[in-house]
Order: sequence, then structure tokens, then C-alpha cells
Amino acid sequence: MLNFAAFLALSTMDSAFNLIDKNKLPKHIAIIMDGNGRWAQRYGKPRVFGHRNGVKSVREVTEASAELGIKYLTLYAFSKENWKRPIMEVNTLMKLFVITVSKELSTLNKNNIRLKAIGDLSSLPKETHQALLDAMESTKNNDRMTLVLALNYSSRWELTEMAKILSKDVSQGLLSSEDITESDIEERLCTSTFPDPELMIRTSGEHRISNFLLWQLSYAELVFSDTLWPDFKKEDLYECILDFQRRERRFGMTGEQVVKS
Ligand code: FPP
Repeated sequence: MLNFAAFLALSTMDSAFNLIDKNKLPKHIAIIMDGNGRWAQRYGKPRVFGHRNGVKSVREVTEASAELGIKYLTLYAFSKENWKRPIMEVNTLMKLFVITVSKELSTLNKNNIRLKAIGDLSSLPKETHQALLDAMESTKNNDRMTLVLALNYSSRWELTEMAKILSKDVSQGLLSSEDITESDIEERLCTSTFPDPELMIRTSGEHRISNFLLWQLSYAELVFSDTLWPDFKKEDLYECILDFQRRERRFGMTGEQVVKS
């Protein structure tokens, strides 16, 4: 038997989900999962307690996205700058990635979800890199949704790598510098096979992009949630999608032009 508060919580969750226009879903959502450390602090626990509980939100948000019909979900799990953190935290995170990816593999396959990873993967600890390669291989034919983990990723690193590839291709005569197009750049990014995110969410009340998908977020709607990542659940995702759907996306046009198109 549900008490009144639980009933109220359930009905609010229901209404947020029901208000979403399922025909106007973003195809790709990218999330900066922030606030694990502060969440742990609130409980007087070490930061890694926040990361472990953050995994529960990863599961919830992945499940909610697949249920809704989102095709791509990218999660910023570890940036190139995160190596500056205390060694104990970094080591725990690396192990957590291995454990989580291995533990969730059968669920990913059961739910027809493909796992991809972007970033400087070969510089990750061997065990972490191998777990990712194994999971990507095992899920490569799944086509309901693609879950992209940005690991040892930063946008400036990605753009620098792209510039190296591009200049090599120019010097080898594969293309001429005068003819470089936006597509030539996109084809050389680690996201080349994914559409750009239309919605980027950052949790924990911080209003920054933090070196995340700088090229790809050019036209994304940015939604900032005050909720700390371990508290971010399905209903929080629904609220962010509703916020996205209330906005007018103009792509450089006027409001009148958008209405007519
Ligand atoms: C940011 O919060 C969070 C991270 C740097 C790590 C996120 C990783 C997980 C939730 C584990 C996910 C696992 C998989 C396999 C995807 P913070 O530590 O910067 O929080 P703070 O700003 O409160 O200090």
C-alpha cells in the first residue's frame, strides 16, 4: 500500500513522462555527470562513495533513454584533466569502469544496446582499455541505442588529433588545404559515426562545458540541472527533455522563419 507522499511522487513522475512529445525527442543526448564528490561529502563519505552511487544513475538514465527511444546517449565519464585528481580516486575510478562495464555487459546485450567509447583509450590502464574493447566487440551489432562513454576524453585533445590527421592527409595529397570542408573535419573526429547531440545536460548546478564536445555541441540546447549526479534519476531526465522541447531551436534563422519551416 503506497502512502500519500509516495503516491504523489509516482504521479509527478508519470506526468513528466507523459508530457514528453515522443515525436520530438532529441536523437542524441550528451551528459556531463557532475556532483559525485559533493554528494559523498553530504554523507560524510569519501569521494569514491559518490562515484559508486553515480553508477546507479548511469544505469537509470541509460534505461530511461532506451525506453524513450533516444538513439545516442553520451556520458562524460573521465576527462583528460581528471588525471590531476588524487591517485586513490583515479585508481578507484579506473577499476569502477572495468567492474561496471563487465557487470553490465549482459544487460546491454539483453536490451540491444551498443557500447562505444571515445577518447584517448590506448593511454588508459591496460585492464580498463581491454574491458572497453571487449564490451564494444560484444555489443557491436546491437541497434536499439548507442551508449557512448567519453573516457580519457577532452575536446581540445580530439581537435588536436583531428588537426594531425588532416595535415597528414594534406601532405600525402589526399586532399588540398584550400578545399577543406566542415565534413572533412567531422570525418576525422572520434564522433564521426554519431550525429551531433541536440541536448547537453550538466548536473550539479555548474554552468560550464569543461572541454566536452566543443565542435559537436555547436547547436545543442544546454540544460543545467541542480541535482547532483547520484541523485539524478529517470524523472530528472524527463524534466530536462521537457525543458529542451519547450525551446525554439533557430539554427541562425529568425523565429518567424522557424515557424514557417
Ligand atoms: C564528476 O563528479 C564525476 C566523475 C569525474 C566520474 C563519473 C563516473 C561515474 C559516475 C562512474 C560511471 C561508470 C561508467 C562505467 C560510465 P565530481 O567528482 O567532479 O563531483 P564534484 O564536482 O562534486 O567534486
